[in-house]
Amino acid sequence: MSKIGLFYGSTTGKTESAAEMIQQELGGEDVVTMHEISEVEDSDFDDYENLIIGCPTWDIGELQADWGGYYDELDNIDFSGKKVAYFGTGDQVGYSENFQDAMGMIEEKISEQGGTTVGHWSTDGYEFESSKAVKSGKFVGLALDEDNQSELSDERIKKWVAQLKSEFGV
Ligand SMILES: Cc1cc2nc3c(=O)[nH]c(=O)nc-3n(C[C@H](O)[C@H](O)[C@H](O)COP(=O)(O)O)c2cc1C
Repeated sequence: MSKIGLFYGSTTGKTESAAEMIQQELGGEDVVTMHEISEVEDSDFDDYENLIIGCPTWDIGELQADWGGYYDELDNIDFSGKKVAYFGTGDQVGYSENFQDAMGMIEEKISEQGGTTVGHWSTDGYEFESSKAVKSGKFVGLALDEDNQSELSDERIKKWVAQLKSEFGV
């Protein structure tokens, strides 16, 4: 069994590319198993103690479509005892008042279902008005902005993954 399950949705491929980079950085397929959320069954989450959740924000503060279709299913899943890390892609210039909202919405739901959030990330280096993904002054996970700051994504992923390795204990 892999140590980490990465569950993601992506409409135009940016979150999927980020997911692949995160998988590589963590050690590849032997360490991280990828699951596209449109093809997931509830029992898939049972296989892992360590989870990574990836979701972009779409349609002005909404979940990406496949995550939107799955969101209510999360009510049926027990995440207690699991460490859960989140990442999102968004556009802090075009959608400054809703930057990364989807990451915050999913984190809130999974936390209600018992998950322990790891991988918090500083808001330094971003400019936006508001975000549901900010709690206690930090992002609940890694915020990537491929629309405006794609040149920073590599470095951000490397730094975040190093943090995750320590927090997951892998
Ligand atoms: C119609 C539209 C609405 C969007 N709404 C938001 C939003 O509310 N907040 C945000 O941070 N990004 C928003 N974005 C930017 C996307 O989240 C961003 O391009 C993301 O990387 C797309 O991910 P994907 O390629 O994995 O689907 C929006 C983009 C489009 C085209």
